Amino acid sequence: MAQDVLADTSTETGARFTEMVFPEQANHYGTLFGGHALSLMGKAAFIAATRRARAPVVMARSDKVEFHVPVRVGELIELAAHVARVGRSSMTVVVEVTSEGLVSGRRRLAVRGSFEMVAVDAEGRPVPITHSTPCKDSST
Ligand SMILES: CC(C)(COP(=O)(O)OP(=O)(O)OC[C@H]1O[C@@H](n2cnc3c(N)ncnc32)[C@H](O)[C@@H]1OP(=O)(O)O)[C@@H](O)C(=O)NCCC(=O)NCCS
Repeated sequence: MAQDVLADTSTETGARFTEMVFPEQANHYGTLFGGHALSLMGKAAFIAATRRARAPVVMARSDKVEFHVPVRVGELIELAAHVARVGRSSMTVVVEVTSEGLVSGRRRLAVRGSFEMVAVDAEGRPVPITHSTPCKDSST
């Protein structure tokens, strides 16, 4: 029998997703274009912040994005975002991009940065973050 009630995902936090680097995401050096990496990092930060606040959020600032190593076309990138600080209406989200050779399995931290995300109302004004994320496992 099909289930018509989905599992409660309100305890999900952060964001994690994997992308292939195809030629259209590369620069003329054949490596991941920095602007594309920033776009993906902004998406990861947006998902993590929205899950934490369970409210609309906007990006107020990006901080200290460091490109450590180039990522070649044909490699995977894994984006991982977590909320490192929660203020009244703002959150600091740290995003890491790890590259992975598909065949070699070699993984390297390629990019790291943080983003200030602000919870807003329907008019785009900052609102307090009221949603609290319970621990997934209360025994730990
Ligand atoms: C982000 C924005 C909502 C802040 O509005 P504001 O009226 O200046 O906000 P306030 O001064 O009341 O500050 C609200 C919170 O945001 C934080 N904040 C605002 N601007 C910030 C900045 N540039 N950097 C870091 N934090 C900032 C404040 O520290 C405060 O945090 P707290 O509530 O946790 O103490 C507003 O500047 C805005 O809409 N910017 C455009 C956002 C946008 O279009 N982003 C791209 C698309 S998502």
